[in-house]
Amino acid sequence: MVSTGLAGRRVLLGVTGGIAAYKPAELVRRLGEAGAEVRVVMTENAARFVTPLTFQALSGHPVRLSLWDEGAEAAMGHIELARWAQDILVAPASADFLARIAHGLADDLLTTLCLASAAPVYVAPAMNQQMWANPATQANLALLRTRGVGIFGPAAGAQACGDVGSGRLLEPDELVAALAASGQPGLLSGRRVVISAGPTYEDIDPVRFLGNRSSGRMGFAVAAAAAEAGAQVILVAGPVHLPTPAGVQRVDVRSARQMHAAVLAEATAADVYVAAAAVGDFRPLEVAAHKIKKRGDGGMTLELTQNPDILADVAALPQRPLLVGFAAETENVEAYARAKLERKRLDLIAANQVGGGLGFETEDNCLTLISADDITCLPTASKRELARQLIEIVAQRLEQRSAHNRDVAA
Ligand code: PMT
Repeated sequence: MVSTGLAGRRVLLGVTGGIAAYKPAELVRRLGEAGAEVRVVMTENAARFVTPLTFQALSGHPVRLSLWDEGAEAAMGHIELARWAQDILVAPASADFLARIAHGLADDLLTTLCLASAAPVYVAPAMNQQMWANPATQANLALLRTRGVGIFGPAAGAQACGDVGSGRLLEPDELVAALAASGQPGLLSGRRVVISAGPTYEDIDPVRFLGNRSSGRMGFAVAAAAAEAGAQVILVAGPVHLPTPAGVQRVDVRSARQMHAAVLAEATAADVYVAAAAVGDFRPLEVAAHKIKKRGDGGMTLELTQNPDILADVAALPQRPLLVGFAAETENVEAYARAKLERKRLDLIAANQVGGGLGFETEDNCLTLISADDITCLPTASKRELARQLIEIVAQRLEQRSAHNRDVAA
């Protein structure tokens, strides 16, 4: 059995209608492997996508569909079921379901259970990216958040409808990890973590800029993992098209100098700074006030000047946080990363090879974590999964640092 802290937990899994309704079948298995006892409640629409029998076979218990099922009510009434649950996880949670629980409706069994239960409620949204981005959906989520409902995901990527964007259900393993993390005090409880993510854009003129291929996925995944681990998270984001992870405070910036100012403003009070951003090393010496026009057939020369080094300046603070840098390299990955670790006086550097479907703009990555005294390889996995592993290691190092500081003070 996988040890996640879910052993013996009574999890009520709600399944709502949507193309992702088949995915929780695997989730039921994973929760079972983690030792949880699972009862499944489906909405009427979910049962149009996948048969209740699937969930019955996997959970080993009859699936509940309706408030008006006399036989099921005789076995375990809905109030009893609401009391039975120690956690309610709704995956996938449709836009319609989110709207209904946000407004306290109890017009079917699942919404009634959410209202009638004292158990914490977690939702894993899954829907078309346009529905996810709709202000009505976002307002419903904001309302649910203020009431303490945990929101897991969604992930971004290709959707069943052909669109690309946010709204994909998290993978079963990710949902199990998120549920396990929510029930625990959190490895980073009480810690303040600053994370930088994405590219920076350095303006050349009003229509052109120097940028890079960073999508922000790696840094956003680290922010999500740190928030799941209970940290207060400030995410300084360059120009990216990603939704803010649940529970994360986001500061949007464009240029390296703006990122520098935003990070430095937060770093003194931080326990950890994770620099996952791909910061432009140079910017044009001057930004043209008007669009630069072609002059004849000749080329043009752009004079560049160096940007401030954010990590080096955070390292120079009198009370510096634990410093985790990233290094994206196309060759000599370990050697170049080690050089950056030393030059920038970092505690840890996460090196990634660029290319072959890894590094920039990709869903997956693989990281080599290098410190002065250790090296750990995190093999290819989703950026979400790698971020979780990285956060575990960061939490251990923070603990070691706190213990060392206590010894010195004693
Ligand atoms: O965003 P994704 O598409 O998910 O891609 C993720 C990633 C590949 C961008 C990410 O995993 C990564 O490796 N980020 C660092 C990119 C890089 O190589 O940076 P660098 O070698 O230019 O800088 C090394 C470190 O110094 C980085 O932590 C960087 O944030 C920091 N730095 C760099 C320049 C600067 N002026 N100030 C800095 O603090």
